[in-house]
Order: sequence, then structure tokens, then C-alpha cells
Amino acid sequence: MKITIVGAGYVGLVSSACFAELGNHVVCVERDGARVAQLHEGIVPIHEPGLPELIARNLAAGRLAFTTDLAQGVRHAQLLFIAVGTPMAQDGSADLSQVLEVARAVGRHLSRFLVVANKSTVPVGTAQQVHSAIAHELAARRLARVPAFAVASNPEFLKEGAAVEDFMRPDRVVIGVPPGSAGTRAESLLRRAYAPFNRNHERMVVMDVKSAELTKYAANTLLATKISFMNDMAALADALGADIEQVRRGIGSDRRIGYDFIYAGLGYGGSCFPKDVAAICHTARAAGERLRVVEAVQAVNAGQPARFAERVLRHFGGSLEGRTIALWGLTFKPGTDDVREAPSRAIVRALVAAGAQVQAHDPLVHSLDQLMPDEPAAQRVRLEPHVRFCADPLAAARGADALVIATEWKIYRSPDLPALRRALRAPVVFDGRNLFDPQDMARAGFIYQGVGRGQ
Ligand code: UGA
Repeated sequence: MKITIVGAGYVGLVSSACFAELGNHVVCVERDGARVAQLHEGIVPIHEPGLPELIARNLAAGRLAFTTDLAQGVRHAQLLFIAVGTPMAQDGSADLSQVLEVARAVGRHLSRFLVVANKSTVPVGTAQQVHSAIAHELAARRLARVPAFAVASNPEFLKEGAAVEDFMRPDRVVIGVPPGSAGTRAESLLRRAYAPFNRNHERMVVMDVKSAELTKYAANTLLATKISFMNDMAALADALGADIEQVRRGIGSDRRIGYDFIYAGLGYGGSCFPKDVAAICHTARAAGERLRVVEAVQAVNAGQPARFAERVLRHFGGSLEGRTIALWGLTFKPGTDDVREAPSRAIVRALVAAGAQVQAHDPLVHSLDQLMPDEPAAQRVRLEPHVRFCADPLAAARGADALVIATEWKIYRSPDLPALRRALRAPVVFDGRNLFDPQDMARAGFIYQGVGRGQ
């Protein structure tokens, strides 16, 4: 099948490589020429396990090509996926300018039946807007025979760090198709594209376009809700002297609840949950509704890093002046180099604001430029003298008055505790990811605080 994917970001690259691996001829269109040149040399701009190998193999096999030429992409495709960015606008809504730009280009170059499927996370009603933008451009061309097209929704559910695996072994494939004959053709084309995943189980969930668009938000919002719920419970566990980790095991064993996404910690970060939760709240308000539960989810999450930093401050009597704090983990979760909305950033700011020197370690983030690429240079210059990046976890701990753990990278899970104790000036650990058993830590001579461990 001939597939075009517009956008060589994280969703676009993974989808391009995986569809090519399934035997399709894939053109991936990216407007950033430097990125296209790099990709042709096999340099992959994101950290995603298995992706460089897939890209290299399919480039070599001639099933995958990168280009900046959108017109070429439109001419190539039977099926075109839009996988461009939808950043958050100032008011929390999703900025659709890139999506609509692609739609207009499709309208300008379309010459035969095409299915356009949205993979970007877009507000309900976007497919309609994409349809109108394409139709508008087509009309302007005053063609004798206007080619038919269909706009479908095909949200993705990939997790960073496991995206290739998630793509190749999906729990389900959601597609939303419009009514009418173009919609029927779209459904059969999309079913063909995903047929390899459907051999043993029916994984296709076919529905109308708006429901598919809402499904994506509902999925991410429910997962975010589980996390904020647990963080709320963790605060209560602290107040009551209960242990949220024991509670987690107790409730997770109920299959209706499940063990996934019920880890208390520093809150959710990344490029998806914070943005999607804000966008769905915005959509609801625009539709005259309010999502009261989801607004509370957002508020709990926004407060989580500050709450944790507050705990560190309290331990030191309200000021960190003259103190050195070690910080392990900066990315928003392990297995990625992504720092977007990472709780560590708020924690660094809070620690420095309270007077601390921070000694940081992360397997993939080694500088303030990397940690805060999107913040004003002045902010980085202010932080620069107070944040030092260390080559290994023990080096970061050396001479520090306390250790703060912000991301649960594997290398932090079983440290040499006696060596850690010797490295720290005082044996104090604030564990934002509940990696350790409080009793074990107490036995090893540490003053240990987690999230919701009853302190
Ligand atoms: C998330 C969803 O899991 C994907 O299904 C979805 O496709 C993707 O967003 C998206 O919309 O593109 P991702 O952002 O890669 O994927 O990260 P997750 O693994 O879901 O983690 C999100 C955040 O929640 C992390 O900050 C993590 O530390 C936090 N988290 C997760 C918790 O605090 N507790 C948990 O129990 C689980």
C-alpha cells in the first residue's frame, strides 16, 4: 500500500517506520530540511528503542523515504496520515495551524481518491475543519472532475519509550470514519493498513469521527485521573500514617481497577497528558460544559512538584541557603530524553529559589539547555551558577545534604546503599517515585521520605 505520513516527529516517525516494516511504501514528509537530511543518513532525532534499526532497514529496502515535498507526498498516497504537532495555545486549547496547513496542501495537490487520517491528537470537530480546508482549496482549482476524498480519525496510543512495541502490538486500533461511500472506502483502506494486527483478534474499533476524536482524549484523561487520584490518596496516606504502596497493591489486585497507572509520585508530565487534559477542559468550556473531575485532576497534578519541594524545605527548616541537594532523574519518565513538562524542572526551580545548589544526574540529560530548551535564556542564566550536572549518580550525591529522586530510571533502583551513605553529607533521601521500602532505608541508616508513605 502507498502511505504518506506528514510529520517526522515522534508519532510520525514511529508510524512511518512501522508501516514500512509491514511492507508498505511509505513517504514521510517533514518541513524541516535539516531533519530530513539527517534521517536519510540514519540519524534519528528522538530517543526511541528499536526505531533507528527499523528506519535503517526500511530505508535500505527502499520502502521508506523522507522528503520536504508535501506535493510529492500527496501524489504518492492512497492513505495520508497527518501526524504534525498540535502545541498548546496560551488559553489551553490545541493550536491546529500545522494540521490545517497540511489540509490546504492536500487540497492544492489532490488528483485522485485519497483517505486523509488524523493521527495527531486533535479536538473534536477537527476532521470537519480538515475536510472544509481541503474542499475549499479543491474548489479554488475549478477542476472539471473534482477528486473524492474522506477525512478519518485514527488516534494513536503510543507511549514514549515503548512506541515501536505499542505500534506493532496494539491493544486496539480506533478509527473514526464519516458516513457515506467515501467513508466506507476509508474504512476498508484503513482496515487493510492495519490488517496485520488483526489476525488473531479483532482489534479494530470502528466508530464515527467525533467519537474517535473524543476517545483519544478520554483515554489519556482517564489515565491522568488515575494518577492524580493516587496522588490525592497519597497525601491522605501521609496525613493518616498509611502507606500508599500497600494501598496500591491492595486495590490493583481488583481486576476492575488494575495495577497500571496507579503509582503515586510527582505527577504526570510529558508532551501528552498535561496538554490533552488542558485541551479537553478547554473544549468542554467552549461547548458550555465543565469537566469538574478533570479540572481537579489538573489542579492536583500542577501542585504535586511544589508539594514535594515543600517537604524538602520543611526538613531544612524553611530555607536551603548554603545547602547542596543531589537530584537523580530529570526526564519526565525513564526510557526517554523528553523533558517536556517534567516535574524535575519545577523541582530544580523551587530548590534553587530556596537557596540550594543542585547536583543533578540523568542518563540522557546533561545540561540546562537540554533540561529547559523552551525557557527564556535569562531563566537559564539565572539557574546556571546553581545547577551542576554530574557524570554518575554517586558523583551527584557526593557532599550533598540530601538526595531527591525525580525519575525512576533503572540505574537508581538498586544503589549501593553504603556507598550512597558515604557520598552524602547527611543520609537524607526524598524519593519522589517511591523506589524503596521505607523500612529497608531506615535499616540502612537513611532518613527516608517518599510520596504517601505515611510521613
Ligand atoms: C501517554 C499515554 O500513555 C499513551 O497511551 C498516549 O498515546 C500518549 O500519552 C500520547 O497521547 O501521545 P506518554 O506521555 O509517553 O504516553 O507517557 P506515560 O508512560 O503514559 O506517562 C505519563 C506520565 O504519567 C509520566 O510522567 C509518568 O511518570 C506518569 N505516571 C504514569 C505516574 O505518575 N504514575 C503512574 O502510575 C503512571
